[in-house]
Amino acid sequence: MTTGSGKINVLLIGGGGREHALAEAISRSPRLGTLYVTHPSNPGLAKLGTPVDVPVSARELYRLGQFCDRKDIGLVVIGPEAPLAEGYADVLGKRADGTVRPVFGPGKRGAMLEADKAFAKQMMRAASVPTGDGRVFKDYDRAVEYYSTREEPMVVKAAGLAKGKGVIVPETMQEGLDAIKRMMKQLEFGDAGKTIVVEERLQGTEVSVLALVDGRNILVLPPCQDHKRLGEGDTGPNTGGMGAFCPADTVDDATMRVIETEVFVPMVDAMRREEIEFRGVLYAGIMLTPGGPKVLEFNTRFGDPECQPLMARLESDAVELFLATAEGRLDEVDVRFSEQTAVCVVLASQGYPASPKTGDAITGIDKAEQIDGVRVFHAGTKIENGEIVTAGGRVLGVTAVGPDFATARQLAYRACERISFRGMHYRRDIGSTKPAAAR
Ligand code: AMP
Ligand code: GLY
Repeated sequence: MTTGSGKINVLLIGGGGREHALAEAISRSPRLGTLYVTHPSNPGLAKLGTPVDVPVSARELYRLGQFCDRKDIGLVVIGPEAPLAEGYADVLGKRADGTVRPVFGPGKRGAMLEADKAFAKQMMRAASVPTGDGRVFKDYDRAVEYYSTREEPMVVKAAGLAKGKGVIVPETMQEGLDAIKRMMKQLEFGDAGKTIVVEERLQGTEVSVLALVDGRNILVLPPCQDHKRLGEGDTGPNTGGMGAFCPADTVDDATMRVIETEVFVPMVDAMRREEIEFRGVLYAGIMLTPGGPKVLEFNTRFGDPECQPLMARLESDAVELFLATAEGRLDEVDVRFSEQTAVCVVLASQGYPASPKTGDAITGIDKAEQIDGVRVFHAGTKIENGEIVTAGGRVLGVTAVGPDFATARQLAYRACERISFRGMHYRRDIGSTKPAAAR
């Protein structure tokens, strides 16, 4: 049985910085038996977990299912959106003997809240969740006709999964019309852009509010702030995220309560009405507008890099917490975070996000981690000829905890300076959208 105090074997799916942070939190748990990982090419994961010995793909999911049976996996934790959208949770959530295996992460239908922005808009509308006015288009001519009648350029979003790049916030009408063409005609985002959402542009400060949801109960986590643009001062193209900090004091407790009651509660109720059993993380990207908080998007997983500062602060037993979420027992557990602030700075490779260069040797990770309170999470790295080299766009997540924001930030940047690889770049203003007084 999974309840009680026995050891549990855990399978962690995913291979980025978020998963390295999750693996570390899971490894701290006294409940952990063996941690199996699907992406041992990430040196951080290789150090903490045992590699699975079957192929990991949506087509051959039954083999991962057999692996879970063979290794007596008592909890599956799914990190990224793609395996969630592909229905991994639905398959791995059933044992060969017909019993239920706890999975942290929603099934295919729940994952649609992220994988299909048109569906998410419709669910938000049905649940009266505050969000920007928006319309869904499957037809190019209709989209252009509608867009052309607007007075201000509206935001254009590919409805499907586009690795965080499928949202264009145009400055001019022409840019907006071009975005519609790139998505719907030139299929720049593949099938993800065949359907688009055209949405009113919202103004305000952005915050990431994540909650654990066990199908019924909601446990809202401390708010985080992410920095999506590549360049300092929030300029340049959107990326997967260049850094994050937690807690984000740009959102006060009263607003957090509004977000819980006006966003999370009605969404979870709406999902229940649709008979969607959502067990995992529901992540609301929120714009704090003068008219109150409004939802920009939902994700159905931990944010990357928001997960890194969150896990750096987590004091509760991660296995207990994820298991309680997967088993619908969130009302029985408490979640504790340290009083500290955590800041994560992403070190990116040359050419990121357009065309990241890989294969460059990385030095100084050990030295960075010698600084008290600093952890370096591996995202796009691998080992080649005994050396750690770059293997992706977002390379490392340098994460520091400190008694206050200023200290955490200083430690993180001091650690970044100890790391080097050819073409390395990072934002030096992570956290600087905070009000000046709080810096
Ligand atoms: P999303 O992936 O939907 O969170 O969008 C990526 C980024 O685009 C968000 O983090 C916002 O900065 C921006 N964005 C999305 N929707 C809007 C909107 N309606 N108004 C202004 N900015 C938006
Ligand atoms: N950091 C934003 C995301 O994970 O979608």
